[in-house]
Amino acid sequence: MNDIQNEFISTVSHELRTPLTSIRGFSQTLLNSWDKIDDESKKKFIGIIEEQSNRLINLVENILAVSKINTDKPILKPIDVNCSIEKVIQLLKQKYKSHNIEIQPNKHIPQVRLDDDKFQQVMTNLIDNACKYSEEGKNVIITTSFFDSDNVLIKVIDEGIGIRDEDKAKIFEKFIRLENHLISKTQGNGLGLYITKNLIELMNGEIEVLSNKSGTEFWLKFPFFSEEEALKCYRQS
Ligand SMILES: Nc1ncnc2c1ncn2[C@@H]1O[C@H](COP(=O)(O)OP(=O)(O)OP(=O)(O)O)[C@@H](O)[C@H]1O
Ligand SMILES: [Mg+2]
Repeated sequence: MNDIQNEFISTVSHELRTPLTSIRGFSQTLLNSWDKIDDESKKKFIGIIEEQSNRLINLVENILAVSKINTDKPILKPIDVNCSIEKVIQLLKQKYKSHNIEIQPNKHIPQVRLDDDKFQQVMTNLIDNACKYSEEGKNVIITTSFFDSDNVLIKVIDEGIGIRDEDKAKIFEKFIRLENHLISKTQGNGLGLYITKNLIELMNGEIEVLSNKSGTEFWLKFPFFSEEEALKCYRQS
């Protein structure tokens, strides 16, 4: 086994052990001292068990996604990106009820060469981050437009805590979570952006991050499916 695999396994084991230890500890306390614990504490402990279970599920899903990056080749088809993004937004609105998540689409853009499942996974990770790293009530805007006559430009714009210049390259590495005041309140394993960047590159796309103290923008570029159709739409737009 090489060093990278060893390091991955040791990090994963650590990430698994932390929530499992907490789940076991709180369930043992509840089982052994049920009659001595007041209702409010019971509710709090069960809440922690639920939260840690969700953390495990998220970790297992992300590890599966990482392991599939090199084996699961994308199936590239013509995709209506506005429609796919809309589906992702509808799902995430249920998770982030107090954020205002909105698409500002260019309705004239032609179809894009993408694997729809993988594209939706990319958009889910980015919009999830945009909500997670901004306060409740903030806007999360997704725009679509022509980058040029061959490529679409998709922006995910948030009003969150921002990312410092020196951290911008780090966030795409495995298991990186930056220190900030929201990190302890939010769940994550630091795999989302690693998966996102890899999936984007597998679909011949590019990702860039722009950020300052008042928010962050992720810019995505992907080629249109048909060059001819794209040129026609571009000229008309
Ligand atoms: N929109 C954003 N605004 C501010 N910081 C961000 C944003 N997106 C990502 N980050 C920072 O980059 C880190 C890495 O993001 P990534 O999505 O890979 O991991 P995560 O959200 O912590 O966990 P996971 O996605 O695996 O559940 C985050 O922990 C956070 O510190
Ligand atoms: Mg994330």
